[in-house]
Amino acid sequence: MPLTKTVVITGGNAGIGFETALALAKMDYHVCLLSRNEQKAQQAVETLKEKSGNENVRYVLADLSSKVQIEAAAKIISEQFDHLDALVNNAGIWLSERTLNEEGVEVQFAVNHIAPFLLTHLLFPLLLKSEDARIVNVNSDTHFRGKIDFNDLTLSKGYNGIKSYAHSKLANCLFTYELDRKLKEKGIQNITVNALQPGLVKTDIGFKHTFSIHALVWKIRREFGVSPEEGAKTSVYLATAPEMKDISGLYWDKCESKPSSKNSYIIEDAQKMWAISKEMCGIEDYFGMRGER
Ligand SMILES: NC(=O)c1ccc[n+]([C@@H]2O[C@H](COP(=O)([O-])OP(=O)(O)OC[C@H]3O[C@@H](n4cnc5c(N)ncnc54)[C@H](OP(=O)(O)O)[C@@H]3O)[C@@H](O)[C@H]2O)c1
Repeated sequence: MPLTKTVVITGGNAGIGFETALALAKMDYHVCLLSRNEQKAQQAVETLKEKSGNENVRYVLADLSSKVQIEAAAKIISEQFDHLDALVNNAGIWLSERTLNEEGVEVQFAVNHIAPFLLTHLLFPLLLKSEDARIVNVNSDTHFRGKIDFNDLTLSKGYNGIKSYAHSKLANCLFTYELDRKLKEKGIQNITVNALQPGLVKTDIGFKHTFSIHALVWKIRREFGVSPEEGAKTSVYLATAPEMKDISGLYWDKCESKPSSKNSYIIEDAQKMWAISKEMCGIEDYFGMRGER
């Protein structure tokens, strides 16, 4: 009998992540949401079960700006699952004000880049156990505006919310391509990694940690956006479509690949970002890749 398909979706309690979770629950995946808020997570799980008729929906709690909480969540997931067919690194944040986490890392960088980097590492042994595992990184075309300043990764000079968001999403894009190169180098054929842009989507992202002026701009701007269900389509496609099985290392928009920014293809930057992220996460031997299951 084939194994039940399993997926972990970060930020699956709201917006694009919730709709991604619903689509996969309807496809009979065993769905695990990674959420920072217990009440929201419980509510989302109930709604997902009700709407999909799938009882295999659960959640794990973690604030993705915290390395310790990511590690604890990954441990729980590793105890609950024996393999993982998809990891959708969806959670994302937009902050008007420069904020540092307990390790002194700027929070947009921590949530939008370091969290997917670390969680992917920690769940890698589970992904290796799948015949066809997909890592899906929810990015943004805003990364086109990103430029990495390796001398000031905490953005201490002239902080600007959008600049920081773009910077974090560019780092996530560099991570996607570097991971793809490493998977290919190591001959790991059962795991793919892709990044995507969901488009402008009518969610609450711009209301959560923003100054009232930014919230007002988002209120107007998001009216031009598509529904979260529409915005989730590319994530669902990359995580589940049979034709995506061996396709890796690309950037996607409306279920079609397209080039990402020029800066995202700078291999030197990707390698440097990888080394710095590894150090920030305190990972000695990233993935311990041995090319075997
Ligand atoms: N909306 C757009 O137009 C748009 C465009 C391009 C890219 N994106 C990307 O799409 C992804 C989903 O965003 P969305 O628009 O669906 O936003 P959203 O409705 O705000 O959903 C974001 C999800 O991430 C979670 N999250 C945020 N910070 C977290 C943290 N520190 N720890 C754990 N979970 C955290 C949120 O939890 P809470 O519910 O507790 O806040 C929520 O579940 C993000 O990566 C975003 O950058 C969105």
